[in-house]
Amino acid sequence: MKKMIIVFALAALTGVAAAASAAEKVALPKGFEKWEKSKQKMITDKKSLFYGAHYIYVDQKALKTYKSGGVYPEGSRFVVVNYTIKEEGGKPVEGKKSMVVLMKKDRRQQATGGWQFAGFSPDGKLSGLDPAKDCFGCHEKDAKATDYVISKYSDFK
Ligand code: HEC
Repeated sequence: MKKMIIVFALAALTGVAAAASAAEKVALPKGFEKWEKSKQKMITDKKSLFYGAHYIYVDQKALKTYKSGGVYPEGSRFVVVNYTIKEEGGKPVEGKKSMVVLMKKDRRQQATGGWQFAGFSPDGKLSGLDPAKDCFGCHEKDAKATDYVISKYSDFK
């Protein structure tokens, strides 16, 4: 009987730990601004969902696969920082930071292709977007062959 209680207690503990670490991981990685960064990508079509300017950041773990293709190693990360567009002298230029998104390779996230998707407000707070409903659709449709990563390193620079 005592043994069973211990087993249950352990299960409860590890369950809590797993939940806590899953929650912890949905945070913007510290220092991502120092990762390799794409050139500015500007979408000026107001009808596009991507209306705005954005930069893609890729971490060291993901870089090799980003360049050569294949399945990304566990823990690989991408961050995209989006900005609004404002007019300056008739030209579209980058405005205010509007959104930050994260993809992190996490094989437990089976419903979303083995990636954790998360959206953040400009100040880095989770914006409560649903990874399966709000994120994975496009990535699944457009990038099955590249492990759900849509952008390409070849047009990074
Ligand atoms: C309407 C389709 C669409 C939806 C919805 C979408 N994305 Fe994307 N995502 C894209 C496209 C297209 C790119 C490539 C942008 C580029 O080439 O500059 C991209 C790129 C990314 C990247 C950089 C890595 C890559 O795949 O190129 C991350 C990270 C990302 N998206 C996260 C998210 C998150 C998190 C969500 C949900 C909050 C989300 N996306 C929802 C279409 C979408």
